[in-house]
Parts: sequence; C-alpha cells; structure tokens
Amino acid sequence: MTSARIVVLGGDGIGPEVTEAALHVLGVAAKRGGKSFETRDELLGGIAIDATGEAMPERTREACVAADAVLLGAVGGPKWDDPRAKTRPEAGLLGLRKAMGVFANLRPVRLHAALADASPLRRDRIEGADMVFVRELTGGLYFGTPKGRAVENGVERAFDTLVYDQNEIERVVELAFRLAAPRKKKVTSVDKANVLESSRLWREIAVKVGARHGGISLEHQLVDSCAMKLLTHAKDFDVIVTENMFGDILTDEAAALAGSLGLLPSASLGEGPRGLYEPIHGSAPDIAGKGLANPVGAILSAAMLARHSLGWTDEAAAIERGVDVAIAKGARTRDLGGTLGTREMTNAVVDAMSQAAGQGGGA
Ligand code: NAD
Ligand code: IPM
Ligand code: MN
Repeated sequence: MTSARIVVLGGDGIGPEVTEAALHVLGVAAKRGGKSFETRDELLGGIAIDATGEAMPERTREACVAADAVLLGAVGGPKWDDPRAKTRPEAGLLGLRKAMGVFANLRPVRLHAALADASPLRRDRIEGADMVFVRELTGGLYFGTPKGRAVENGVERAFDTLVYDQNEIERVVELAFRLAAPRKKKVTSVDKANVLESSRLWREIAVKVGARHGGISLEHQLVDSCAMKLLTHAKDFDVIVTENMFGDILTDEAAALAGSLGLLPSASLGEGPRGLYEPIHGSAPDIAGKGLANPVGAILSAAMLARHSLGWTDEAAAIERGVDVAIAKGARTRDLGGTLGTREMTNAVVDAMSQAAGQGGGA
C-alpha cells in the first residue's frame, strides 16, 4: 500500500500533543520511502462529549471502520470524572475497540540499554529484557454483562462480570503463539485459575492451542505472582497473554520497568490488517498542554501502525531505529530525568533518522 488513510483521534489531555508528534515522524519516514498517507481528524473521548454529548459519535465510528488504520492519543480527565455522569470518555474508547473488533492488544516492552538508569530496578535485573504482552481487549471484566447498579432492600450494589467464551480465548492465545514463533518461543499465559472459573477455562484453552504449536513452550503463571516476577525475573518473559484487566495493570508495571509509562506503544489488532494504535499511557492531566509529554510511546505506535496495517516495514524500522539512536545519544524528556519537551524530543528522533539514512541505513 503506498497511499494510506489514517483516522487520527487526538482525544484529551496530552493526546493531541503526542499524536501530532507521531504523525510528524511518520510523515518524515513515509516521504523518504516514497509513500504517502492522508489523515482525517475525528472526535473521541471527553472532547467528543463536550461537542456532541457522546464519547464515540457515530461519525467517528464510521470513519474508523472505513480507515486503513486509526491513531489515538488518549482519552479522559478530571473534567469528565463525575461517577454519576451519563457517559465517560473511556466508554468511547471501549466502544471503539469493540466496533473495530480489535481483540488483541500488543504491548511490546523492551529495555533500552541506555535507559537502565531510568528504571527503578537494578541494571542487572532488567538489561536485555524483551517481552511482548498480548492483552485480550474486547472481552473479560471490561465488557461482561450483567454490569450495573441495583438497590436491594435499601442497599445499593454495583457489579461487573468477568466472562469469556472459548472462541474469545482461543483467538487471542493463538495470536500469542504465532508471535512467539520468531522470538524466544515461550508463551506465558497469565490467569487466576486458583480462584476464577473464567481463568480455568482460559488455561484449558491455552493448553489446547499450545498443543498445535510444537517447539513453543507454554507456562502458566498466576497474575499475582506474575506481578512479582516482573520485578524479579523480567528477563525470563517472552510473550505474555492474558485477560483484559490483568493485561491493563501488568503493562503499566512493565512500562515503569522500561523507564517510563511514556515510552510504551501498542497495537490493537483483529482479523484483518486494520488496527488501532495508541500509546499505553493516559491523558496525563498533570502535564497536559505544557508541551512536556514524552512522545515516544505515540511515535512507536505510529511505527507499529506502519508495519502492521500498512505493510511499511522499512519505514517502521527507520522510526524505531530513530528512537533508539536518539535515546542512545541522550535525548530525554522529563519523565526520563531529562529536560527536553515534546517537540525537542520529536526533533531528536527525526534528526537521528536522518543520520541513520545518511549513513546508508535507509529510511
Ligand atoms: P496517565 O497514564 O494519564 O498518567 C500517569 C502518570 O504518568 C502521570 O504522572 C503522567 O504525567 C505520567 N505520564 C503519562 N504519560 C506520559 C507521557 N507520555 N510523558 C510523560 N509523562 C507521562 O494515568 P492516570 O493519571 O491514571 O489517568 C489519567 C486519565 O487518563 C484518566 O482519565 C484515565 O482514564 C485516562 N487514561 C486513558 C488511556 C487511553 O486513552 N488509552 C490510558 C490510560 C488512562
Ligand atoms: C489503557 C487504558 C484504558 C483501558 C482505559 C482508559 C479505558 O487504561 O488503554 O490502558 O483500561 O484499557
Ligand atoms: Mn491502562
């Protein structure tokens, strides 16, 4: 594909700042590779609630399902946090994931050697860590029904349901095994099978899928001890597949190991090439509008978009190399202990890409 249609959902807080940075870098990479893309901005989240009363307006949904790929910043913030509000920005994001059918959320975590000092862990514990989480994204506790509130005998109750069917588990675990094949050939399936029935089904299906993939090992890990092992044995992990909410929590932990929540990208994929790409961090209300956000998570999300949805493998590699080189040369936003703002960090990545291209790396 040489000309691509990308829907851009800046969203709330730092969302628009980081998507702008990511599109700038993607534009530079595309131009060098003789590729082009057109963008269309749409509303999602709090900004959409303010404009239309809905967190995911129909127009946004239609644009996203018709696009080659969707790039998202972040949604949410204190303005829309009233627990009794009719709708929330986050509901728009969940609705979009469901509407796009993106059931697998890939969150790669790679420790950059030059950032070992930004990690709260000792260098020897994390250097060389390289894992990818496959977070189930359209089922589990986030989507199960019944879900709601009720008053019984004058007492208010609230409830959520953790439910999976075998097909939902099978397709995401299958994807995890495929990802493991060209890597270290190890899948860790994370569950709470000592307590939850849904986890016991998850485990059974993981074993069944594993039997189809000779040469790839499968281990089961309970989610609580997995949280611990990420701190003590991060290097032992390769591909980790898990339920929606377990994956949400564990990946923020893993991001901190790699140096900052601002670094991690993600790709949400379904059956076809179309995907939804977003950094794993949120709208960071504390630094929004100040030009301080680390754009790397969004920039690497644009690289994943290029690779997975557009088939632009050279451009994706050029962006990733640009980030590596910029970081190796000392480019650091404040979350990494540096002084650069969003724009300066973005420029450092672009400069590093140019140098790599000048040295014959090609972009
Ligand atoms: P958060 O990820 O927004 O912020 C947590 C901390 O990390 C903050 O101190 C923030 O400044 C920092 N941080 C996050 N991204 C950063 C970046 N790129 N550069 C530098 N620092 C960064 O999490 P939160 O504060 O728990 O949530 C705030 C809002 O974001 C909530 O409304 C939440 O629902 C929403 N949220 C949205 C998404 C999404 O849209 N995908 C993801 C997570 C949270
Ligand atoms: C994420 C976020 C979202 C999630 C929220 C904002 C709905 O935390 O993308 O990690 O929990 O999936
Ligand atoms: Mn999250």
